[in-house]
Amino acid sequence: RLSLLLLAAAALLAAAVAGAAAGGPPGKLSPDFYSQTCPRAERIIAEVVQSKQMANPTTAAGMLRVFFHDCFVTGCDASVLIAPTRFAKSEKDAEINHSLPGDAFDAVVRSKLALELECPGVVSCADVLALASRVLVTMTGGPRYPVPLGRKDSLSSSPTAPDVELPHSNFTVGRILELFLAKGFTVQEMVALSGAHTLGFSHCQEFASRIYNYRDKTGKPAPFDPTMNPGYAKGLQAACKEYLKDPTIAAFNDVMTPGKFDNMYYVNIERGLGLLSTDEDMWSDLRTRPLVERYAANNTAFFDDFSRAMEKLSMYGVKTGADGEIRRRCDAYNDGPNTV
Ligand code: HEM
Repeated sequence: RLSLLLLAAAALLAAAVAGAAAGGPPGKLSPDFYSQTCPRAERIIAEVVQSKQMANPTTAAGMLRVFFHDCFVTGCDASVLIAPTRFAKSEKDAEINHSLPGDAFDAVVRSKLALELECPGVVSCADVLALASRVLVTMTGGPRYPVPLGRKDSLSSSPTAPDVELPHSNFTVGRILELFLAKGFTVQEMVALSGAHTLGFSHCQEFASRIYNYRDKTGKPAPFDPTMNPGYAKGLQAACKEYLKDPTIAAFNDVMTPGKFDNMYYVNIERGLGLLSTDEDMWSDLRTRPLVERYAANNTAFFDDFSRAMEKLSMYGVKTGADGEIRRRCDAYNDGPNTV
């Protein structure tokens, strides 16, 4: 019996050693996944993205949006980072992804370059996105939440999936909830994650129908969407006047504290200062309004729920083991150009 026990112990030890060599037990995420294979990974990413954020303060919002667009489409697998080639399109070709900002992609490229110098072929691009997002949320004043590691990078990137899987600015809250619930997220998680709109911009075309030629559901015209604060609506009308000639004109998502990660987004919604109709609709919809009220009144409650929801989002549909690869560069598959 003793020899059986010894055999079992040896087998366990061998499995543990194999797991550690691969950077952790295969198929499982863990916060210390790179503790043996690339212990400075998080520090390296933090240094790169922090200096990028100092030079370009729009990086944090961009990264957070890129991360959401990655995770909601085939899971958090860096499929959004694949560049289209002469042979095949990628998620970047989807209409909804055209406005994803270059600064965020640039910060990922720089992080990956620095990582490849220190520990080549070890840290996945999907993990870079997850860690960079957390660093930037924390840097702009938001909570530090756990980020389990060990995601693999995708072997495909669909040009059509993002427009189907992601919420659009002309959706009702009901339709957005359908998308989130279908992916296993709750109403509360949807409202908490939307708090990411405390940062960044939206281009005028995303809310133009609220401020120009507005018509309500019955077709009745009004100078602007009546759920908006009138002064705010008029300010936006003036700011976006030339948006058809210059589609790059944009407005802050959070007009009060645009660069700070805080609960002001929800306070704004209560006051008719939500920018997108999808933001303001969370006040009209009685499933979401109590949560908006709760987060507007209590920043700690928002941070707690946002943290849990981000951790869950970061694990959505992740690929581990043989399901994916560790890309050498984040915009291309290892076995040559994008041909999928
Ligand atoms: C709930 C449904 C959502 C809708 C309908 C929505 C829609 C949008 C739209 C239309 C924009 C403006 C894009 C542009 O004009 O460049 C935007 C920006 C943004 N979204 Fe969302 N979004 C949603 C949820 C989320 C979630 C869950 C996150 C992250 C966890 C997120 C993070 C962001 C950020 C940070 C920006 C600013 C990007 C920048 O400044 O570059 N959004 N969103």
